[in-house]
Amino acid sequence: MFVGEAPGVDEDRQGVPFVGRAGQLLTRIIENAMGMARADVYICNVVKCRPPGNRNPDLAEQQACSHFLEAQVRLVEPALILTLGKVATLFLIDSDLSITRMRGRVWDYEGIPVVPTWHPAYLLRNEGAKKETWQDVKLALRTLGLPDAPPPWKPESKLVP
Ligand code: URA
Ligand code: URA
Repeated sequence: MFVGEAPGVDEDRQGVPFVGRAGQLLTRIIENAMGMARADVYICNVVKCRPPGNRNPDLAEQQACSHFLEAQVRLVEPALILTLGKVATLFLIDSDLSITRMRGRVWDYEGIPVVPTWHPAYLLRNEGAKKETWQDVKLALRTLGLPDAPPPWKPESKLVP
């Protein structure tokens, strides 16, 4: 399961998570870095509608939507959760650490392993962070007992838009 922050304008219009530019990059991460199809994973957000002006959802908004995500986790019973960015990571894991320090480790949400990684919108602005996402994905695959995505492919280049 992937958990993002909140729908953007494209997602709000279509009612589907991660369909805009960041979503297209997420699809490439799933397909090229994980060797999976989008249909193999479940993608959702902490907050279920677009915050005004695309700002980060505040705590009250996150709390108002929390029962949806909690129900999604209960129903999907994911083998692992990859949290995309700070909002999703801190929503599931109580920590004072920054996302920079939370990355690279496996956390726990109600017995489910959680691997924090960068939000794909951040990767669109910071190409250099893609190699860290690649490492996070490998950590997730290893935690799931899965092999690295099959060759032939070039990790960093295939993540580039
Ligand atoms: N960013 C998010 O956090 N979620 C989406 O669905 C799209 C962009
Ligand atoms: N609905 C979601 O929110 N995510 C999926 O991946 C499929 C249906």
